[in-house]
Amino acid sequence: MTAIKGKHIILGITGGIAAYKSAMLVRLLVKAGAEVQVVMTPNAKEFITPVTLSTLSGKPVISEFFTANTGEWHSHVDLGLWADAMIVAPATASTIAKMANGVADNMLVTTYLSAKAPVFVAPAMDLDMMAHPSTVRNISLLRSYGNHIIEAQSGELASHLTGKGRMEEPERIVEVLEAYFSGNCDYKGKHVLITAGPTYERIDPVRFIGNYSSGKMGYAIAGEAASRGATVTLVSGPVSIPAPADSAISVVRVESARQMLDACENVFPDADVAIMCAAVADYAPASPSDIKIKREGNEPPEIRLVKNPDIARTLGEKKHEGQILVGFALETDHEGDNAVAKMKSKNLDMIVLNSLRDAGAGFSTDTNKVTVFTADGRTLPFPLKDKHEVAGDILDTILSL
Ligand code: CTP
Repeated sequence: MTAIKGKHIILGITGGIAAYKSAMLVRLLVKAGAEVQVVMTPNAKEFITPVTLSTLSGKPVISEFFTANTGEWHSHVDLGLWADAMIVAPATASTIAKMANGVADNMLVTTYLSAKAPVFVAPAMDLDMMAHPSTVRNISLLRSYGNHIIEAQSGELASHLTGKGRMEEPERIVEVLEAYFSGNCDYKGKHVLITAGPTYERIDPVRFIGNYSSGKMGYAIAGEAASRGATVTLVSGPVSIPAPADSAISVVRVESARQMLDACENVFPDADVAIMCAAVADYAPASPSDIKIKREGNEPPEIRLVKNPDIARTLGEKKHEGQILVGFALETDHEGDNAVAKMKSKNLDMIVLNSLRDAGAGFSTDTNKVTVFTADGRTLPFPLKDKHEVAGDILDTILSL
């Protein structure tokens, strides 16, 4: 390992039982040649002593805004500028909430808000806290700021309950940092077109036909591709996910399948890779009403549907040498056969299958379980993973084509 050598790293430690692992993290970072400045929250000192951490890092630990006996002020701004990376490990629910909402009431969060460098966050907490909607929302806010989340693992927790909430092992955190600094930029110079979310097909000005797609998978692929150096055009149907903060991602917002096709046809000629993640409505009302359809005095309307364009198929027909076109298939039965048939008929190079029969896979979840089929005949089943990790697997497989 060399990429971490000489790097300035702020290690933020918060008050959770996993703080004992931070000692090992400091040791591994220092061994890899990094300069480590530990910043602790006051609560973290209940779990591990500053003496241990300052000894391992070779630097006094910072915890308060001022050194009590000298009145010396610790500049969070200078610290933020000094750092090549900031890691918050373990990150408790409370610190994650403060980071997500800018509550700068301690040195750690203040430093985070001043940090210009990439921030890596390794959550650790009990499974119920991890699953609470406020934590889920705050983690997703951090992601939307461009922070890197090092997912908590499942296993036995301090409460003796078993579930997701264990801080990732220090060795793995160092690997993540190592990969970041060694510039895992295998998509540098590539333009990736991604469709995401549902389409809405208008019935009248207030009603539409749509589907349950959340857009999470497409947005995760966009984020991952951008962090690996790609320029991304994300053609997004209506979703509630905030636009990615990464300047390498341009978002084109559309509503209907027709608009999505137009946006894709504009971009596709310049794209190296196109990933069709959107759940495009297959049909649209033939003649949407310009005025609201009224109930009073009317029989229930019959809505005649017409076929929407098949975006993936249209791009498959226009694909030129060197372009890679990837589709998704969401199936409930004969999954593998249906997915491979779709790949062939739409002239795709690869198709990613989700089965609705797999728990944790599909539309609104944060996880996904996929099997990838490639046009060169490979079948690659992946285990259930967070959608961001699935995004990494998909991008890795595309590179292997
Ligand atoms: N797709 C598309 N345009 C459409 C329908 C689908 O681009 N009008 C793309 C999807 O984004 C996905 C792939 O085609 O990458 C397969 O989508 P899916 O809905 O599973 O397949 P369909 O061809 O619509 O077949 P069916 O709904 O009958 O299973």
